[in-house]
Order: sequence, then C-alpha cells, then structure tokens
Amino acid sequence: MTETERTFVMVKPDGVQRGLIGEIVSRFEDRGLKLVGAKFVRIDRDLAERHYGEHEDKPFFGDLVSFITSGPVMAMVWEGQDAVAQVRTMMGETDPAESAPGTVRGDFGLDLGRNVIHGSDTEEGSNEREIDLFFDEDELLDYERSDETWLY
Ligand code: PPS
Repeated sequence: MTETERTFVMVKPDGVQRGLIGEIVSRFEDRGLKLVGAKFVRIDRDLAERHYGEHEDKPFFGDLVSFITSGPVMAMVWEGQDAVAQVRTMMGETDPAESAPGTVRGDFGLDLGRNVIHGSDTEEGSNEREIDLFFDEDELLDYERSDETWLY
C-alpha cells in the first residue's frame, strides 16, 4: 500500500548555475508530484553542517559543505504517493557516472562531487528532519492540483 508523503529536494549550486532548475521542476511536475514548498536560498555553514551532519566523519565532508554553501540552491518540498522513493529513483545514483540515462544525474552529471540534486533518503524520518531544517510549517502550502483526482 502506497502512501502520500513529502520529501525534501534541493537543486544544488551546480544545477542552479547551469540553469537546470526549470528542467528539474518540470520533471517532478510531469510525474504528478505536487510542489508544496520552495525557496531560493544560499545555505550558511551552520545549516550545511546540520543538514549533512551524519556524514561529518567522511573524508569528503569538508568538500561537501564548501560546495553546498558556494552558491544559491533551490530548496523544495514535493508531495505525492511514495514521494521519497519516487524522487530517489528519478534522481539516479549518488555517482552520476553510474546513473541511468533518463535520471536527473544520468542526464546532467558526471562528477561525484557535483551531482546536481539532493533528495531525502528512504531512512525513516530523514524526509521530515530535512523539511524541518529548511521550512517552517506555514511555508508548506496545501492546495489541489487540477489533475489530482484522476492521477490518484
Ligand atoms: S555514504 O557514504 O554512502 O553514506 O554517502 P553518500 O550517501 O554516498 O553521500 C553522502 C552525500 O555526500 C555526497 N558525496 C560527496 N560529495 C563530495 N565528494 C565526494 N567524494 C562525495 N561522495 C559523496 C553525496 O552526493 C551525498 O550528498 P547528497 O546531497 O545527499 O546527494
């Protein structure tokens, strides 16, 4: 049984600088996911270290924090049935070189450190933790898509 859920998605600085926001938003809209929150922000070091806190012992942690704070990101919350897993599938693998064509990373990336997009992982509670870090409850908007009734 699938359930409606929300997931946190971020177009990373490389995706913003390459003009990929619209393309990425379109893919999720076309799939039938619903945008319920969005903000164009420059992440500070403190937020970056909290967001990626579980990786602080990894050798790439410093690079990851420098990269994600290097320019604006498009932070979003998408809602739909199995949204976390659906977005993960549409993103591709962490390493773009291993990502299938048709996925965001498979179509737009090659470099592991510059992989265009972030989406919450499927671990229980990751999506809510990340949404809470970036959004206040009143910044998440409730409305119906006109195609919602026949899509779901
Ligand atoms: S792990 O070790 O499996 O838990 O890590 P992983 O989920 O693969 O990656 C965690 C995030 O770190 C990014 N990453 C890197 N950034 C820079 N350099 C290197 N070498 C590197 N390896 C992994 C990776 O893209 C993940 O970020 P998000 O934003 O979650 O995709």
